[in-house]
Amino acid sequence: MSAIRIIKGEYRNKPVRNIAFTLVSGYASGAKGNYVTVKNDGNFPNCPDTVRIKVDSIQNFEYVTGDAVQDNTVHFEKPAVVETDDEAMDRIRERFDILHEMTKATVSGDIRAMIVSGPPGVGKSYGVETEIEKACLFDKLAGKRLRAEVVKGSATPIGLYQTLYKYSDANSVVVFDDCDSILLDDVALNLLKGALDSGKKRTISWLSESSALRREGIPDRFEFKGSVIFITNLKFDQMKSQKLRDHLDALQSRCHYLDLTLDSQRDKLLRIKQIAKDGVLFSDYDFDEATQDDIIDFMHANKDRLRELSLRMALKIADLRKMSMLNWKRLAETTCMKSA
Ligand SMILES: Nc1ncnc2c1ncn2[C@@H]1O[C@H](COP(=O)(O)OP(=O)(O)OP(=O)(O)O)[C@@H](O)[C@H]1O
Ligand SMILES: [Mg+2]
Repeated sequence: MSAIRIIKGEYRNKPVRNIAFTLVSGYASGAKGNYVTVKNDGNFPNCPDTVRIKVDSIQNFEYVTGDAVQDNTVHFEKPAVVETDDEAMDRIRERFDILHEMTKATVSGDIRAMIVSGPPGVGKSYGVETEIEKACLFDKLAGKRLRAEVVKGSATPIGLYQTLYKYSDANSVVVFDDCDSILLDDVALNLLKGALDSGKKRTISWLSESSALRREGIPDRFEFKGSVIFITNLKFDQMKSQKLRDHLDALQSRCHYLDLTLDSQRDKLLRIKQIAKDGVLFSDYDFDEATQDDIIDFMHANKDRLRELSLRMALKIADLRKMSMLNWKRLAETTCMKSA
């Protein structure tokens, strides 16, 4: 059974400090704030067997490593049946706030590994990258040296080993962004499992002789003390292949797993509206408000025909609007939509 220690929390308006509980389910976000669900274990007399402890942030608790698989998944409460647009936007914003918060914790080393999953073009890379940039800038000012690398696209197993070695110090972060090919390769996957392991010491080894490693002076085993963020479009719990599922389960149990679950068309459109309303989505375009609304309305009207409902698609359409004030809709129909 896995356990969690609440450093600073609250149950029924009473403080909970430094108490370990049996974990029922991990950090989640609900209408009344963020909480974790744990077994009462006799801590609160005359209260239910399972209780929700309110915790303001992930700094306020820690998972206590046991033998059992930890449930580190960040769960989100199912939305209420009738949810207004404003409520839905709050719910969505909270998810991205958690993405930012968890990235910060990964950069600071409080969390050693995190997997972020969600549909394309919704802002996964953006969220992680902005937090890392902020942290790098801050560390530069503080005279420390945070080392961060974002690996995009494919990575060979030996390339992965080299990258992990290069960023093996504490105070280092490696982000694997859209590197799903790693998950399909046994050697690479085992390296990653080693890097993400929740044991005290994470040792990574390269098992075969390699002149490339020798040439670069890279040892065939080393201790990894850095942090890893893995960004992917794959939904780990919905993979069909059993072999892949087993592998992914092994990874998931070693990491915090944040599924942004922005799956419905409505959620995706609301996310686009939200970022546009914040005034950041179209900030490079010099559009007035009416033009921005035109683009969003156009996406709304054509939500079933667009190849993808994403921030990226909104930016593509904005490019076309900038190119041609008169013809942008026709251009968008030809280039951004599925054929009828
Ligand atoms: N909060 C935001 N504010 C402004 N622009 C954003 C924001 N989030 C994302 N974007 C923009 O939206 C586009 C898509 O975002 P991003 O590349 O982060 O998506 P993604 O979820 O990583 O997609 P993929 O899975 O395809 O890699 C980018 O051009 C990015 O700059
Ligand atoms: Mg991305």
